[in-house]
Amino acid sequence: MKNKLIIGVLLLASVQLSAQNTLNLKVDQAKTKINKEIYGQFSEHLGTCIYEGIYVGKDSKIPNIDGFRTDVVNAFKEMKVPVLRWPGGCFADTYHWKDGIGPKENRPSMVNVHWGGVTEDNSFGTHEFLNLCELIGTEPYLSINVGSGTVQEAAEWVEYVTSSNENPMSELRKKNGREDPWEVKFFGIGNETWGCGGDMRPEYYADVFRQFSSYVRGNNLQKIAVGPSSGDYNWTEKMMIGLQDKKHLVQTLSLHHYTLPTGNWNSKGSSTDFGEDMYFKTIKGTMFIEELIEKHLAIMDKYDPEKRISLAVDEWGTWYDALPGTNPGFLQQQNTVRDAVVAGINLNIFNNHADRVSMANIAQIVNVLQAMILTKGEQMVKTPTYYVFKMYNVHQDATLIPMELKSEDYVFNGEKIPAVTSSASMKDGVVSITLSNSNPNKAVPVECNIAGSDLKTATGQIVTGKNITDYNEFGQPEKVKIETFKTAAPKNGKLTVEIPAHSVVLIQLH
Ligand code: AHR
Repeated sequence: MKNKLIIGVLLLASVQLSAQNTLNLKVDQAKTKINKEIYGQFSEHLGTCIYEGIYVGKDSKIPNIDGFRTDVVNAFKEMKVPVLRWPGGCFADTYHWKDGIGPKENRPSMVNVHWGGVTEDNSFGTHEFLNLCELIGTEPYLSINVGSGTVQEAAEWVEYVTSSNENPMSELRKKNGREDPWEVKFFGIGNETWGCGGDMRPEYYADVFRQFSSYVRGNNLQKIAVGPSSGDYNWTEKMMIGLQDKKHLVQTLSLHHYTLPTGNWNSKGSSTDFGEDMYFKTIKGTMFIEELIEKHLAIMDKYDPEKRISLAVDEWGTWYDALPGTNPGFLQQQNTVRDAVVAGINLNIFNNHADRVSMANIAQIVNVLQAMILTKGEQMVKTPTYYVFKMYNVHQDATLIPMELKSEDYVFNGEKIPAVTSSASMKDGVVSITLSNSNPNKAVPVECNIAGSDLKTATGQIVTGKNITDYNEFGQPEKVKIETFKTAAPKNGKLTVEIPAHSVVLIQLH
C-alpha cells in the first residue's frame, strides 16, 4: 500500500513536471505576416563596420567584388539580409551625402566626431551602399541627416536615389555612372534626435519631422520618425500628439533599446569574461524589451487607434565594454553563446508582435556591438548571433502562428525569469517553431501541441555551445554554429522536445 502511494505520488509529480512547459499553437488563428524586415541589420560608419569589415576597395589584396569583401558578401547572402540601415546612427546626422558621390579622388574627407575622431574619406558613399544592397539582395534603409543637414539636402538625396524624371539630381546620378534609380523605400528622418541627433525636445522634433517629411517625396515611401530611447514614454506621447493631425507624413516610429549587463553606461561588463550573475542580468535585461514594446504601442494606440503607424526597433542588441586594447570609440566586442540566446529571445518577441513591429535592425552587422560577422585582416568569423539569424530566417515573410506558452522559471539569486521563449510561423505547409532556453544549468522539456494537425515528420537545428562564454575565434574551428538537433516525430499533433541548457532551437514540422 505504502509502495503504491509512493508510485502514485511519483507519477503525479512527473505528470506535473512534464506539463510545466507547454506550447499550444493556434494554427487556425494564423493570419499576421512576419515582415522579413524584422530580421534587419544596421551598418554605420563606425569603427571597422564599413571600412575593413565590408568595404576594402577594389585594389585590396583581400578578395573582393567591386571593393566589397567576397567572404562577407557571401555570408550576408547565406544569412539573408532583408533590409540594411545606413549610414548611421549618430554618424548620419553629421553626414553630407554629396561628399560621398563622384570620383573618389575628389571626395572631401571629414572627421568622424562621434566614433574615435578618425578620418572619414567618403570612399564608401551612396553608390557603394546601394550597389551593395543590390549585390546581396537587400532593401536599403537610408537615415537622413536632420541634426546638421537641411531640408533641401534631404529632398535632393531622395531625388538622386529614386527619381527617374529629368531633373538636376537624376542628371547628376547619371553623370556619376548610374542610369536608373535604385529602389529605396525606407527613409529615417534623423536618428536619436533626443541625443546625438540634435538634442531636441519631442515637441520641437515633431515639427521638424513634419517639415522634413513633407519634402521626402515619392511613391510608397516608408518614413520613419525618431522614437523613444528605451523607457522614455514621454517622447512617444509627445510625438504622437505632435503627429496626430498629419498621420499621412509618418508610417513608422522607431524604438532604440540596448542590453547592458550591468545597466551602467560607464562600466557595462565584459563580452567574454562573465559568470552566471552577469549572464542572468543580460537575459533579464533583454527580456524587458517586450514590456517596452507593449507600453509604447499602448501609447501609440491612444492617438492612432486605427494602428496605421507601426514600430521599428531599429537599434537593438547587447552593448558591452570595448575589447581590451581596442579603440573604445570603435565599440568592438566578442559574441558568445549568451549573445545567441539574447538574439533568439528578441527575435521571438518581435515575431510575436509582428502585427505592429514592422522592422527591427540589430546593431550592427559587422565588427560593431552585437555583430553577425567579425573580421581581422583577411580573416572572418561568423558569430553565434549570425547563426541564430540564419536559423531563424525561415520566419521571414511567413505567417505568425499565435501561441500560448507556459514556461518554468529560471531562478538565480532569488530572482526569476521564464526559461523558455518561443515563436512559430508557417510557410509553404511547413510549421517552424523557434525556442530559446536561457537556463544555463538544465535542459527543459517542452510539450508542443498543434491541435488538428496531421504533420508527420519533424526536423531540428540548434545553436549552442559547451559554455555560455563560448565564441568563435579567428583561425580556430568554430565552437558555436548551427547543428542538427534530433527530435521525435509528432504524434496526434503532439511533440515533446527537450531544449538543452543555454540554447536556441528550430523545430520544423512537415
Ligand atoms: O549603434 C551605436 C550607436 O548607438 C548609434 O550610432 C546611435 O544611434 C546609438 O546611440
